[in-house]
Amino acid sequence: MRALPALALLLASLACQAETAPQIRQTYAAEAASQQAGFAPSAKRGEALFRQRFAINDKMPACTSCHTDTPVNAGQHAVTGKTIRPLAVAANGERFTDPAKVEKWFGRNCKEVVGRACTPAEKADFIAYMSEVR
Ligand code: HEC
Repeated sequence: MRALPALALLLASLACQAETAPQIRQTYAAEAASQQAGFAPSAKRGEALFRQRFAINDKMPACTSCHTDTPVNAGQHAVTGKTIRPLAVAANGERFTDPAKVEKWFGRNCKEVVGRACTPAEKADFIAYMSEVR
């Protein structure tokens, strides 16, 4: 069975491969639909989440605190002042192509800004908005 290690290697390399923003959005949307029948991602709701001001953290009340009001533009970290590349796919083709990176930053930023984890529905909506905005 010499083919097995090769197959395992192939599968491992596929698992590491980049995905596209629509694929990652679809994974969240499917998870959301399993909790809420008929769920479909909405760019409009995604934009509302992006702009909403929460009362959790004075330094970063909204996603816009670091990503600015205009996601096609570069942002600036509200605490460190470091430049952040645009979140909009139209301006930055690397956005939402690495599932681990997407999860890491939703995890960190939702916790800091919203005060809890974002739901799969919110993540699907957010990616829908960032994929459409120009
Ligand atoms: C304190 C500053 C800050 C705030 C506020 C913030 N972010 Fe971010 N965000 C970052 C940084 C830093 C990165 C990682 C650097 C990069 O990817 O350019 C990042 C990256 C991301 C990514 C990764 C996207 C990808 O595929 O590359 C997502 C998703 C994200 N942020 C969502 C959000 C959401 C949703 C909110 C609001 C709930 C938010 N961010 C608020 C600083 C912030």
